[in-house]
Amino acid sequence: MSAALSCEDYERLAEEAVEPGPWAYLVGGAASETTLRANRAAFSRWAFRPRVLVDVENVTTETTVLGTPVSLPVLVAPVAYQALLHPDGECATGRAAAAEGTVFCVSTMTTRSHHEIAAAAPGLAQWCQLYVFRDAGATREHVDAAVDAGCGAIVLTVDTPLLGRRERDLRIGFEIPPELPLPYARATVGEAAHNPAAHFAKLSPSLTWRDLEWIAETSRLPIVLKGIVTREDALLAVEHGAAAIVVSNHGGRQLDGAPATLDALPEVVEAVAERVEVYLDGGIRRGTDVAKALALGARAVLAGRAPMFGLCAAGEQGVRHVLSLLRDELRLTLALLGCTSPEQVARVHVQPTVPYDSAA
Ligand code: FNR
Ligand code: LAC
Repeated sequence: MSAALSCEDYERLAEEAVEPGPWAYLVGGAASETTLRANRAAFSRWAFRPRVLVDVENVTTETTVLGTPVSLPVLVAPVAYQALLHPDGECATGRAAAAEGTVFCVSTMTTRSHHEIAAAAPGLAQWCQLYVFRDAGATREHVDAAVDAGCGAIVLTVDTPLLGRRERDLRIGFEIPPELPLPYARATVGEAAHNPAAHFAKLSPSLTWRDLEWIAETSRLPIVLKGIVTREDALLAVEHGAAAIVVSNHGGRQLDGAPATLDALPEVVEAVAERVEVYLDGGIRRGTDVAKALALGARAVLAGRAPMFGLCAAGEQGVRHVLSLLRDELRLTLALLGCTSPEQVARVHVQPTVPYDSAA
């Protein structure tokens, strides 16, 4: 896979490597995919303001997230059903994240348990992405297993009371094999259910702010709320004890017409970044994307599809290479900006690109 020089190269290799059904599921968004496109487009509306004649011989990409050291400010986002993308599934992703020194957020719809991933990837920092089932007992068991396996945080995804309508999946008839292992979901979804919408019908659509309390009490872990794009909800998150927020629209897969996450980031940062860590996901494909998110106030980003392109194309080695490409690109970007660490990147390092008509 040495031919691949970027996440974009991996995207092309990945499409050749997997079946059309899982591919549609991986790359698709909700409805007209307006938000999916908006996430990517937002990065090109910001230009850098590089500073020069700074000694950049020693540049580090290291930082911390909730106190956990990471070698780059890019975490692996939760992505469901990874055995459909590569036979080693989440174990391959976990080994890659451990080797590259970052956190892996494991989906509730994982095909490998937290314990299996921990055994496959010693030293890995795992966070548990939580979807809450109507059957609260199933969710408590899931949380207990996550705690027992040493997960460092609960990533509660809050933008998915119902699953967005992904027309690519419907058009192609994407199905989840009934024998696919789902250690935390299979008992609840049963063997008849064979598509994401059927699985998500088993989740609770009545989750509210009040539920944060029992989730925090059951787990005694920091809660990261994933899927916030407004200052109002960011303030409520802090009020209800969240330790961090992920500004996310679920990679454009939920509410079509939700804002691009880079556009939503500044208002969330302004409201709460002094009190909790703020991360961003959606459309991260380049080190320059990471740097723009840092400049607008994110402490780190999550990448979903980019590492999955690596997984599809080349398993563990593919995920590792994608993460190392992002790290190398970020290191170069920091140096060319005149920064020697992620913490140094600030609002002064970006400006909105000037529309041609207003420049004329
Ligand atoms: C996701 N995402 C997601 N989020 C979550 O909280 N639990 C999950 O199980 C999943 N599953 C999932 C499957 C697939 C195929 C994709 C593409 C995404 C959303 C994910 O964590 C993240 O928010 C987005 O993927 C970020 O956008 P990019 O990096 O993919 O552009
Ligand atoms: C998705 C779910 C699994 O985005 O979060 O498909």
